[in-house]
Amino acid sequence: MRITLSNLHKMMRDGEKITMLTCYDASFAALLDDAGLDTLLVGDSLGNVLQGHESTLPVSLRDMVYHTQCVARGAKRTFIIGDMPFGTFQVSPQEAFRNAADIMAAGAQMVKIEGGRPMLETISFLTERGIPVCGHLGLTPQSVHQLGGYRVQGRAEDDAQRLLDDARILEQAGAGMIVLEAIPATLASQVTAAAGVPTIGIGAGADCHGQVLVLHDLLDVYPGKKAKFVKNYMKSAGGSIQDAVALYVEEVRSGKFPGKEHSF
Ligand code: KIV
Repeated sequence: MRITLSNLHKMMRDGEKITMLTCYDASFAALLDDAGLDTLLVGDSLGNVLQGHESTLPVSLRDMVYHTQCVARGAKRTFIIGDMPFGTFQVSPQEAFRNAADIMAAGAQMVKIEGGRPMLETISFLTERGIPVCGHLGLTPQSVHQLGGYRVQGRAEDDAQRLLDDARILEQAGAGMIVLEAIPATLASQVTAAAGVPTIGIGAGADCHGQVLVLHDLLDVYPGKKAKFVKNYMKSAGGSIQDAVALYVEEVRSGKFPGKEHSF
């Protein structure tokens, strides 16, 4: 049976860590399903790791629909989240709904939207109409040019306070989960302590309710620069993809990953 958002909320309440990896195709989806992952994110990081772009900005709705369909065919048990690509949700809640509906029809159980307070109305609109939404705060890659690069966010006191406020606002708007990317571990810990929905960290320390990594980073097949929060599980597990994924799941569940060396 497929894992549901309620199952993930129960894991949070029971103190069980939630495991997530990005996934873009049916074969890896089946492998990750078998490895016991709880959730798969069809991330727009596919723009970097599959398409070879320098950012996620060129990824289209059509790309996301296609890859979500592929993942949904391969994964029978995991909860699937589809990213809303740049330009498909910022203009109006109505347009966001139509685009999110395409991703849900492709096989996702939730869509992910980058951004804080300005997304309030859109998140309410979608969740009130039956589309679960995962928020994404901190380093939001679709805003890379506004942020001035891929940098750690929330270090200054006012930025940290804004992020705490944004997390509360997203939850009040109906977000069922929040990804926290590249923020200080102490800030992620504060957000997590205040949150009533699971927080999933990537470069956000060990206290989040769950962890996510980009699959191609974990397997060390992405040729680009590695962020500090990436761990090369291929090396740690001795060269087998299945063993690398199994070790990631084990280390997230036991709290061994991320270590201090992967955190800010
Ligand atoms: O697109 C993606 O892979 C993501 C993760 C980095 C969280 O949004």
